[in-house]
Amino acid sequence: MGYITLSNVSYSYPTSKDAVIKNANLSLEKGKFYALVGRNGSGKTTLCNLIRGFIPHFYNGQLTGNVIVNNKDIKNEDLGSLALDIGYVFQNPFNQISGIKETVFEELAYGLENFGVPRDEIIRRVEEIIDVVNLAELQHKNPMELSGGQQQRVALASILIMDPEIIVIDEPTSQLDPQATEHVFKIIELMKNKGKTIILVEHKMDLIAEYADEVIIIDHGEIKIHDVTEKVLIDPRLREWGVSYTEYTKLGLKLKENKFNVDKIPTTVDEATQMMQKLIR
Ligand SMILES: Nc1ncnc2c1ncn2[C@@H]1O[C@H](COP(=O)(O)OP(=O)(O)OP(=O)(O)O)[C@@H](O)[C@H]1O
Ligand SMILES: [Mg+2]
Repeated sequence: MGYITLSNVSYSYPTSKDAVIKNANLSLEKGKFYALVGRNGSGKTTLCNLIRGFIPHFYNGQLTGNVIVNNKDIKNEDLGSLALDIGYVFQNPFNQISGIKETVFEELAYGLENFGVPRDEIIRRVEEIIDVVNLAELQHKNPMELSGGQQQRVALASILIMDPEIIVIDEPTSQLDPQATEHVFKIIELMKNKGKTIILVEHKMDLIAEYADEVIIIDHGEIKIHDVTEKVLIDPRLREWGVSYTEYTKLGLKLKENKFNVDKIPTTVDEATQMMQKLIR
């Protein structure tokens, strides 16, 4: 049994005609970084909702099968106790922001206040997270007046500050520039090094190739593959599932197609460099 296990899970929203998740089986280990990938509408957010327990506790609809997180069947837990284990960063950062706090600093303190954490410790943890997520310039601003990308970073920080063991992050970089995007991956790496389990929904394949341990691809509600990153990202069925190759993989495939002696298709810049060094030797 994995740390997070889905067994024969199918789900449809009250209004859906067909199942949105179809007989999903998944076993995830503690302390790994998983990237969840798939085209628009494939079911990524729904899968996250299942792991977080929003299904069935917030969304009705029809659910069969079992979702077990840290030995607990999510059906039997309430959302509050699940929140202690699982931090969830919403796809739309606006949904994360309380709307009742005047500054980013207070917004970050809010979750801890609700748990009765002593004031000194709150201040210490807010300052720490402001440093990690690079929010110093925003700390006195009103969260409601930030840009989408800034709100995304505040939303991420507001979850990390709670220090959950499992972190589910749904497309946290969609409104970020390349530099801020890479920074998010660096933060995730930091969390992984602290032993956290991370599930990230993301489209940016070059960064997934660089950072994720394993990749899960979902298409039309079906989990098509779950394996180590370097295997999944060179799978010939990738396009069929609506997922793109990294630029390095495209280069490797093109060279191979043109009869170059490529023994290992690269996914990252380092692997591509090794490939080129072998070819010109
Ligand atoms: N609350 C809801 N009620 C009814 N149907 C929904 C609801 N949320 C999502 N769906 C439908 O379920 C399917 C999967 O949606 P989901 O949001 O999980 O996909 P996704 O992979 O996260 O998509 P995106 O890349 O656009 O975020 C889609 O057909 C969507 O229209
Ligand atoms: Mg989604």
